[in-house]
Amino acid sequence: MGKKVVVTGVPGVGKTTVINGAMERLAAEGVSYEAVNFGTFMFDVAKKENLVSNRDEMRKLGKDVQKRLQQAAASGIAAMSGDANIIVDTHSSVKTPTGFLAGLPEWVLRELMPDMVVLVETDPDQILMRRLGDASRVRDMEGSRAIAEHQEFNRAVSAAYAMYTGCTIKIVRNENFLLEQGIDDLVSVLR
Ligand code: AP5
Repeated sequence: MGKKVVVTGVPGVGKTTVINGAMERLAAEGVSYEAVNFGTFMFDVAKKENLVSNRDEMRKLGKDVQKRLQQAAASGIAAMSGDANIIVDTHSSVKTPTGFLAGLPEWVLRELMPDMVVLVETDPDQILMRRLGDASRVRDMEGSRAIAEHQEFNRAVSAAYAMYTGCTIKIVRNENFLLEQGIDDLVSVLR
């Protein structure tokens, strides 16, 4: 049975950047992981149903629709993961217009049963600047304080994921100018 690792963090913290760096490093050592993006699974279904035209619109959909897309993504990922080591790039919680939505509710955890949940974090000001510098996405306008609150909520909700599955929770810092250190930290728990 391969390892199942869920990597989370607020939008723009650099999850995908850290995952890609870690996978490259591990591949050079002969350790292979497959990375899947949970949001892409959701987006494929949402696009087919003409619900959204870009991935940033998904968190604005009605709660029940988001939950249905979540369920579809979780079963799709569980069906394809088999015995491989797998990294799921996703969110501990999603900020919706009506409040935080758990990214890994019971029906998602039951499908994925992760060995570990990683929280990628850094200082809220750095995240704000990264969001402002990324023109390819439609980010919500929010300040450092709101980003800090979202990171705090992600820690709290991840404790519930550990209680439900017995997974470990690992915090990886991805600071400006210290990307390699963040990658090292992730590699050390994926090896
Ligand atoms: P997704 O695509 O995962 O959204 P996201 O978090 O906004 O992803 P990004 O790729 O924008 O952020 P990232 O943290 O990966 O940062 P990146 O590496 O690109 O999800 C889309 C949607 O799907 C969600 O909004 C939600 O609706 C839905 N969804 C997903 N999972 C769900 C779930 N479980 N339940 C319900 N809905 C779900 O980096 C960002 C920038 O920072 C880049 O420019 C990069 O170069 C820069 N950067 C990175 N690291 C550093 C560093 N150390 N120093 C300086 N710059 C850095």
